[in-house]
Amino acid sequence: MKKIILISLTILLNISVFAQDSDWFYATMARLDARELKEDIPGEIDILTEKGYEAVVFMSPSAAELLHDRILVHGPGYIFKSSYDEAISSINKTITTTSSRMAFTITEDEKVSEVLELMNVQNIEDHILELENYGTRYHNLAQGTQAAIDLKAKWEAMAAFYGRTDVSVRLYNHNNTPMPSVIMTITGAQFPDEFVIVGGHLDSTSNQGNNDAPGADDDASGIATITEAVRTLFEADFFPQRTIEIMAYAAEEIGLVGSGEIAQEYSSNNVNISAYVQFDMTNYNGSANDVYLITDFTNSSLNGFLMQLIDHYNASGAHQFTYGTSLCNYGCSDHASWYNEGYMAAFPFEASFGQHNPNIHTANDTFSISGTADHALKFAKLCVEFLVETAKHDGLVGITEVSEELYEIYTLNNTLYYNFDTYVESIDSIVIYDIGGRAIIAVDDTKNEGSITLTHLSSGIYIVNVQTTNSEVVNKKIMIE
Ligand code: BES
Ligand code: ZN
Repeated sequence: MKKIILISLTILLNISVFAQDSDWFYATMARLDARELKEDIPGEIDILTEKGYEAVVFMSPSAAELLHDRILVHGPGYIFKSSYDEAISSINKTITTTSSRMAFTITEDEKVSEVLELMNVQNIEDHILELENYGTRYHNLAQGTQAAIDLKAKWEAMAAFYGRTDVSVRLYNHNNTPMPSVIMTITGAQFPDEFVIVGGHLDSTSNQGNNDAPGADDDASGIATITEAVRTLFEADFFPQRTIEIMAYAAEEIGLVGSGEIAQEYSSNNVNISAYVQFDMTNYNGSANDVYLITDFTNSSLNGFLMQLIDHYNASGAHQFTYGTSLCNYGCSDHASWYNEGYMAAFPFEASFGQHNPNIHTANDTFSISGTADHALKFAKLCVEFLVETAKHDGLVGITEVSEELYEIYTLNNTLYYNFDTYVESIDSIVIYDIGGRAIIAVDDTKNEGSITLTHLSSGIYIVNVQTTNSEVVNKKIMIE
């Protein structure tokens, strides 16, 4: 093993003799990975600073390639940063989930079942093959850009076919890659300023020093998955009340560049995103369970909600999926870009990490490895369940309440008092919504018993939403006089 690494290192080093310093770039990565690289290829990487488990590095493209090689073994990666300052400020930032809050409820059984019936596995297969046939979708090659232009046309045609005038599709041009991302917007009828977003990456890469990167699983599968999910929403005449966006990112493979720029812009414009779900690698059935929720760089209450969705629609008979959890060990895909901006993100993945498709980043990442799109279809269903249940009408009115004997929530003198001691071990968060479903107060890491001052709330009805650490949700109406 060591020998193989040494041989490939020699090749990389030889190539890098001709590489220019101007190709080097800043990035953040796990401290351990940075140190290992520095030891193996000292001429290709400088560690500029370390903080906690992270490091800021300045590195060459060949160091990046070597990292990609290794992700098949133990999962390091890096996040591209456009400047030294950006890299430093990103590791100094503390991440707090703030603006994106909503009560996750499951009420849309009927609509979801209707949409799921319309799913067509052949569409997913056809789309994966269509993308694989570009040969490569490397971000700085013409094929990468062409794939984006063509996807925009495909999505536009789809919206037009179903007569959707509430849908628009745009190319998003980037600073750090010539390839554009593609964004479809389905404008919400009731809360157009609240967003739920799903995405995947359109670019592909190879670690074999050639441009033979069909990227069928990584990540044509994700793009095909979300496309079929949206198509079925259109066919079922689903009109969201919150705005839905579907994103196909450029340049994920060189350090989350496309999603990084978009998430940063949304965050600096204070865009209110209720939740984000990433679909990257959905079609390789490599583990015992169907879906693995990645638990690092993601939000636990959103992961809990996706589990509840699977449970609920298993029970309703819509499908039978099993799920588990896994770690990526690093911000390994675009969900990390959103998570890093403080948004709620989740990443349901095709297998347990390590049992995922071993052919990614090679010429063998083709549809024929799976031979069917059955696995991706499960993710398309989960995507529909997520979108319908989060972009629906105000789900807060008419909520069912958990038996009140189990907990205490009451208001006295403009203060909310709560006590969950007999109900659960601990609670994750308490969020207070107004009757329109807007989060007014959000408190994380609460104790089981405590109080929240409500003096600044105007009179009316509010909903107190409590997420417990075992993924249960308690909703309680309160009245402020
Ligand atoms: N789809 C992969 C991420 C992945 C690979 C997740 C294997 C789980 C198992 C993604 O396209 C990728 O290659 N990511 C890079 C990191 C990124 C920040 C450049 C990686 O993991 O090296
Ligand atoms: Zn990849």
